Order: sequence, then structure tokens, then C-alpha cells
Amino acid sequence: MVVTEQDFDFVRLLVCDQAGIVLDAGKQYLVEARLGPLAKRHGLASITALLDRVRGARDLALRQEVVEAMTTNETTFFRDFEPFEALRKHVVPSLMAARAATRELRFWYGASSTGQEPYSVVMMLAEHFPALASWNVQHVATDINLDVLKRAREGRYTQSEINRGLPATYLVKYFEKQGLEWQLKPAVRERVRFEPINLVKPWPPLGAFDVVMLRNVMIYFDVPSKREILGRIRRVLRADGYFFLGGAESPLGLDDHFHRMPYDRAGCYCLGEASGTAQRGAA
Ligand SMILES: C[S@@+](CC[C@H](N)C(=O)[O-])C[C@H]1O[C@@H](n2cnc3c(N)ncnc32)[C@H](O)[C@@H]1O
Repeated sequence: MVVTEQDFDFVRLLVCDQAGIVLDAGKQYLVEARLGPLAKRHGLASITALLDRVRGARDLALRQEVVEAMTTNETTFFRDFEPFEALRKHVVPSLMAARAATRELRFWYGASSTGQEPYSVVMMLAEHFPALASWNVQHVATDINLDVLKRAREGRYTQSEINRGLPATYLVKYFEKQGLEWQLKPAVRERVRFEPINLVKPWPPLGAFDVVMLRNVMIYFDVPSKREILGRIRRVLRADGYFFLGGAESPLGLDDHFHRMPYDRAGCYCLGEASGTAQRGAA
């Protein structure tokens, strides 16, 4: 199905307003690839017919479906590897020392997609930090897309999703076969609370976090949205907490309160002066 110029402009404004996502000129092919199948699923003959139902906010559920269809949910277990190594080698040991009195840790994954990112952390912690079993460790995972959140809660993955980044030892230990798919055991799934949160709209009260992962989502946002979100992250990140961005993302030139930690290519940042990193588990 083809997208007209008028429909393309409408979708660009809609996803920018609803999700902060900037759709560059020339991305008509993306709209066609994402909204064509959605129109078909609704028994509609064209993208125009689909958008006509959304125009003027006539069908809010369908509007959400259109916005969701335009999100990119690409993710893998242990994506990029280095962030998880930084957590294992530096961040978690340093936080366990700092929180020995309260024995409480809170993680937030702000664009968790189908759940591979939070579940990777849960499995890594179970594997390398058995002492945390007696701590109060909370994992809050959020996303704008209700469909990926549903899949994340189910914790079911195809063989090809499993093949992308999951060590075989983890598959054996933490998953069970369900037909052609693999499902995470309840003990892992129950550790993560999945909830819808739109990063560019007001956030509900979240409390304070020791670790915030906001990886591979800021790339889609415009500069004012990035600045606003980084400012809000500062308010939910504990003073000695750690913030992770994706490999192609940086707070540089957007917010000078974040300092990069020297953990290879982990994309890990802390608040405060970089000189303080020596006491914070810097390599
Ligand atoms: C490319 S995935 C990143 C997944 C994971 N963080 C990773 O790095 O593998 C980006 C996710 O951001 C979500 N997203 C896009 N816009 C959003 C918004 N305004 N608020 C919350 N989540 C959003 C998408 O639904 C998608 O699941």
C-alpha cells in the first residue's frame, strides 16, 4: 500500500506529538511497511482509509495502534555486551557496597521493548550475585508500546530471538521449552514489573533508582524531548546512581550533568564530577 504526501505528513505530526518520534523526510517506505499491514488487519483497503479513522482523534485505540506500529522494537538479549559487563564488573559491586545497610536496589528500563534487556540483567544478577537473593531488588520495565509489554510479560521467545545473544548456559538454566518457543521460568519473569510509560508525556511517580537504562530510544527523539527527558532522569536517578544510554546516544551537548564512566563502550554515565568516578568503581 502506498502512502500519499498528505498521509505521510499526518503520520509525522502524529508520532512526533504522541511519542516524540521524529520521522525524517524520505521515510515514506517505513510508513508503508508499518501501516500497510495494520490497515489490512483492520480490513481497510488503504493507508488513507486507516488514517481517516484516526483523524480528529475519532478512534483513540486505533490511534495508539498507529503510533505503536511506528515504533522500532529491535532488541536482543545482552545487546552490545559491554553494558552488562560494566554492570557485572563495576556498577553492581559498587552499589552493593554503597547499599549494604539498606540492602535495596532499584533498576528502571525506560524502553524495555519485548523484555530481553531487563531479563538479561535479572539472569546476570542471579548468576553472578547470589547474595542479592536476600536483598530487595526491584526491576521496573516500561515502554510506550502495549503490544511489546504484553509479549515481555509472557517472556516467550522464538528460537531466532534466543539465538541472538543468549548464552546457552542461560537457556538451559532459566528457560523452558513451550512448543516451538522458549519461555522464561516464572522465577525470572516475576522479578520484572512491566508497565506502560510514554517518555515524552508526564511520568507517574516512579521513586528513585540506582540504575536507569534508556538505551536505543533517544535516537528517535527531537532535541527538546531529549533535553527534557535527561532532566527528568536526573530527578529519578539517585545521586550515586548509574545511567546507561545506547551506543549511538550521548548526553553531550544536551545535558552537562552526566559524566561518562570509563567502562569500555558501555555507555554508562553518572551524575557529578568525573573525578569522583575513582571512588565509584571506575576501572
Ligand atoms: C529499539 S527499542 C530499544 C529496546 C532496548 N532498550 C534495547 O536497547 O535493546 C526502542 C523502544 O522504545 C520504545 N519507545 C519509542 N518511543 C517511546 C516513548 N515515547 N516512550 C516510551 N517508549 C518509547 C519503543 O516502543 C521500543 O520498544
